[in-house]
Amino acid sequence: MTTDRKAEDLPLEFRLVSADQVPLAYAIEIEEYPESEAASLKNLIFRQDAAPELFLGCYLRKEDDTSLLVGYIVSTLVSGDHLTHATMSSHDPSGDVVCIHSVCVASAFQRRGIATRMLKEYLQHLQRLSDKNKSNASSSAKYKRVLLIAHQHTTGLYRGVGFVMVGKSSVEHGPDPWFEMVYALDH
Ligand SMILES: CC(C)(COP(=O)(O)OP(=O)(O)OC[C@H]1O[C@@H](n2cnc3c(N)ncnc32)[C@H](O)[C@@H]1OP(=O)(O)O)[C@@H](O)C(=O)NCCC(=O)NCCS
Repeated sequence: MTTDRKAEDLPLEFRLVSADQVPLAYAIEIEEYPESEAASLKNLIFRQDAAPELFLGCYLRKEDDTSLLVGYIVSTLVSGDHLTHATMSSHDPSGDVVCIHSVCVASAFQRRGIATRMLKEYLQHLQRLSDKNKSNASSSAKYKRVLLIAHQHTTGLYRGVGFVMVGKSSVEHGPDPWFEMVYALDH
């Protein structure tokens, strides 16, 4: 029984979401995001195909040794200082800014610290990738920073893992304003 167990007490594993697992992420996406904000399956397939190293899943290991996807974070690379509508739907392989599109946890597992844990894992993963790219002359991208937009009520989640408020975003989508937040990576 996993009910009420906090992230640190759950057998969680973090690994990249493979192409065949994207529909599982999509099932969570459409369940948890409002219809107007949820990514389409096509979009998630595009993101996994374009930047598989930026699609990290959080899996719960079960007693029978199988695992269940309970959350994920997905991003693409962009260039420039701020997120716009255009950057939100593209991938620039030479970009040095990681644009997070979704941070999502299945509702049965929310408010147990899983998104917090996932974000910390993700930021460490990005730092490792960036360091690897830096030491590999043939590779283009060293990541400078991570950007995302969030509604006011979730900004505390991101502040809690080190993101800093940039300000109100120029992105307009739905009735509520979006706020841009940034996390600086060592580079
Ligand atoms: C937002 C979301 C990812 C949070 O996942 P989670 O695993 O429940 O988050 P955590 O347990 O790590 O939360 C840590 C802290 O963030 C804040 N927080 C998390 N979800 C919140 C919410 N819905 N409203 C207000 N504050 C929230 C709280 O301060 C929380 O601490 P607390 O539970 O001790 O009060 C999850 O609710 C979700 O998938 N929502 C649908 C998709 C979405 O909106 N994603 C964010 C896009 S910007």
